[in-house]
Amino acid sequence: MNLSFFSDKITAALAQQRYGEAPEALYEPIRYIMALGGKRIRPLLTLLGAHLFTDDLDPIIKPALGTEVFHNFTLLHDDIMDQAPLRRGQPTVHEKWNANVAILSGDVMLVRAYELFLDVQPELLATVLRKFSQTAAEVCEGQQWDMNFETNEQVSIPQYLDMIRLKTAVLLGFCLELGALLGGASPEAADHLRQFGTDIGLAFQLRDDLLDVYGDAATFGKRVGGDIVSDKKTFLLLTAQAQADAAQRATLARHIGQPLADADAKVQAVRAIYDELNIRPQTESLINQYFQDALQHLERVPVAAGRKEPLRQLALQLMERES
Ligand code: IPE
Ligand code: IPE
Ligand code: MG
Ligand code: MG
Ligand code: MG
Repeated sequence: MNLSFFSDKITAALAQQRYGEAPEALYEPIRYIMALGGKRIRPLLTLLGAHLFTDDLDPIIKPALGTEVFHNFTLLHDDIMDQAPLRRGQPTVHEKWNANVAILSGDVMLVRAYELFLDVQPELLATVLRKFSQTAAEVCEGQQWDMNFETNEQVSIPQYLDMIRLKTAVLLGFCLELGALLGGASPEAADHLRQFGTDIGLAFQLRDDLLDVYGDAATFGKRVGGDIVSDKKTFLLLTAQAQADAAQRATLARHIGQPLADADAKVQAVRAIYDELNIRPQTESLINQYFQDALQHLERVPVAAGRKEPLRQLALQLMERES
């Protein structure tokens, strides 16, 4: 079974999904963001997690969509917080409409996500809602750490890793655990899948941070250099600060945490230091470490290796992604 078999199911279900009609300014932005596409990896992880244990994917579709609607809600709010102009190659909702619209459309998306989870089998409902609620709260915690760190000069790499675990990785872990539980996995197997997802998620966010500096804007679909402009304490910046010589440290200090004069000049100067310090290969090596850790957890899921192949393939694609 190849990956497109699963992603086609998600695409078809999303095309059928309705969010509401009036007022237009509440629901049109939801249709807009959901129609812009994206990789759809969260529902894909849920389906693939379930498919390890069952061939009956129909009952998994709605909750899988719930993860995608939730994710898109976080993007609406994240783009306000990050003052991002572009998402999936198009204007962000707060740019196309305004911030109030992006806030409220996002709010109702969270509600719709909960409704999609209500479709799980009754004996699993409380567990799923509890785990989802915990995950959603952790995403908010990660997002607040991320914002706090913009103005904090003392962020450590372990603090950064914990921040990305919360804002990004726990959701990928939840998506897999959800699929596993709905597919009938044992609690131990579901837990290994959650950890597989969390490790993939850490690698995924590191890759995102790398693409934010080195990506091609047209392919990445987001403004390149945005993290540098907003003083995000990424692995790239923290590693550069730790390894910089006196001159490089002075250049970084002239740009980071200072009022913005020229965004392009700032991005160029910081990227030049990353290049001098080989930050890119160092980041790639950490990504690879998390990928290897992830595979260890997948190994320990007691199903035939062939059945795990689509999941391994997807994980590999995500580590090498350009968009
Ligand atoms: C973007 O997520 C937010 C991060 C966690 C980096 P994706 O890279 O999955 O975005 P889409 O859904 O494919 O656009
Ligand atoms: C995303 O982090 C985490 C979310 C919960 C949305 P980023 O701020 O790096 O995501 P992008 O780069 O805007 O997609
Ligand atoms: Mg952002
Ligand atoms: Mg952000
Ligand atoms: Mg990013």
